[in-house]
Amino acid sequence: MSCTAGKAKRLRDADANQTVADAVRPGKKETMVGSDFVAAEPIKWPVQCTIGRGLQDAIACETQIGFVNGARGILSYRGYDIFDLCAQSTFEEVSFLIINGYLPSADELKQYKETLASLRPLPRTLRALGALPIEKMTPMAALRVGIATLRQVVTDVDTQSPDPSHSIDTDADTVPDVTPDSNEDLEVDRAIPATTTLGRKDAYRLVAGMATIVAAIARLRKGLLPVEPRPDLSHAANLLYMITGTVPDEQQARIMDIALIVHGDHGMNASTFAAMVVASTLSDLYASVESGVGALSGPLHGGANEQVLYTLESIGSPERVKEWFKEARAKKKRIMGFGHRVYKTYDPRAKVLKPLAEIVTQNDPKLSTLFATAQALEHEVIEELGDTKNIFPNVDFYSGMIYKALGIEPAMFTPVFAVSRVAGWVARCLEYVKDNRIFRPRAMYTGETSRQYVPLERRGSTTKGA
Ligand code: ACO
Repeated sequence: MSCTAGKAKRLRDADANQTVADAVRPGKKETMVGSDFVAAEPIKWPVQCTIGRGLQDAIACETQIGFVNGARGILSYRGYDIFDLCAQSTFEEVSFLIINGYLPSADELKQYKETLASLRPLPRTLRALGALPIEKMTPMAALRVGIATLRQVVTDVDTQSPDPSHSIDTDADTVPDVTPDSNEDLEVDRAIPATTTLGRKDAYRLVAGMATIVAAIARLRKGLLPVEPRPDLSHAANLLYMITGTVPDEQQARIMDIALIVHGDHGMNASTFAAMVVASTLSDLYASVESGVGALSGPLHGGANEQVLYTLESIGSPERVKEWFKEARAKKKRIMGFGHRVYKTYDPRAKVLKPLAEIVTQNDPKLSTLFATAQALEHEVIEELGDTKNIFPNVDFYSGMIYKALGIEPAMFTPVFAVSRVAGWVARCLEYVKDNRIFRPRAMYTGETSRQYVPLERRGSTTKGA
């Protein structure tokens, strides 16, 4: 759907000076109506669809987890609109919802929070990470190692006797339930080995542990010791606390919480698909999440948030935006934080994050210049590319400056994205393997045919082109 000039203008006009609650109030959303949802009827396989390069528009599976309407800029998890969830919910509630399919009761939420709190301390995993040259690794590479280490630790026999002291100095991660019974929720009627780590407890362990591992990497790369999680803090507050060593104030914790909510799940994006491909081989959830992390690290996907910040810093001020943009266009540069395969209008997640970025940057002159520069760049991009190419800010455009204002360094932006997206990865992997079929698309061969093998001694300097 192409945007009208009026719509582009409306999307450009920011709501200024709002409180966090105002900024994400449900009334801000475009109203979702039944016809915004597609595929109400069960799909009949094989499905007919037109597939573009990069699997554009391919339908790979059915899901009940999340819904994206790219033309209208609508996102929902399990039928709940993202604006409602941001305004009224928490990451704990939303991650439960994404994984289990329904909003938890008060008791279920309490129990889930206790489970997360019990799974957050990872002394053995962190000690193993601490022995590595984390400062020489990219944080996303370190995160993959951290997840592989977590898997090793939780499937290792000596975690059968966890140390209850929950201390980083102990020898065991606090993992009361380990692999053998972790398949109990899976309801898979296929021959999955009983020890396969593809169960709901692994999902919870990964949701809880991702924050601990990411925070530890943030500190270890600076030569600082990891900070233990606090059971009295929320997931978002714990994340900030474990990264910075300081308990965030209520507003900071709430803004982090909302940032986690908007990143929780998003259709068959590259990292989710990568995780699901691995899960479809009946490998385990840890390997699946590691693959998700690998895919998320690319600058065309989750890596864009870090690149956005560098771009804005290199532009320096709103006055320099026009000149920078003109030059970038002349060099046919991609503007990081803009454009999306599915959204052909303003990304609803960017709509949520923009006013939060304004709130969190307003008292710091450097950060407010960054925000003003971002606004000016948004204006230029939408002016030139909004109507012609449907290019608008995506989720990565405003998230980075929020993270920076909350005390997170740019190299950690994409790992922080993973702290949230792990909920979508594990939920979609578990959903898919319930009725598993290994992913195995085909490629169109366009190479040479019928070539004659030339023995090495007769090849000359090269057979290239022969
Ligand atoms: N800046 C300038 N032009 C762009 C941008 C951009 N950010 N994004 C797309 N375009 C242009 C392309 O040059 C192309 O123009 P053309 O038709 O003249 O050749 C057209 O829009 C379509 O682009 P595609 O690459 O075909 O779009 P695709 O759907 O494959 O890519 C993507 C989507 C990768 C997100 C792209 O928009 C992009 O590279 N954006 C910048 C990186 C970014 O912000 N990534 C984060 C995405 S959100 C997420 O992953 C969490």
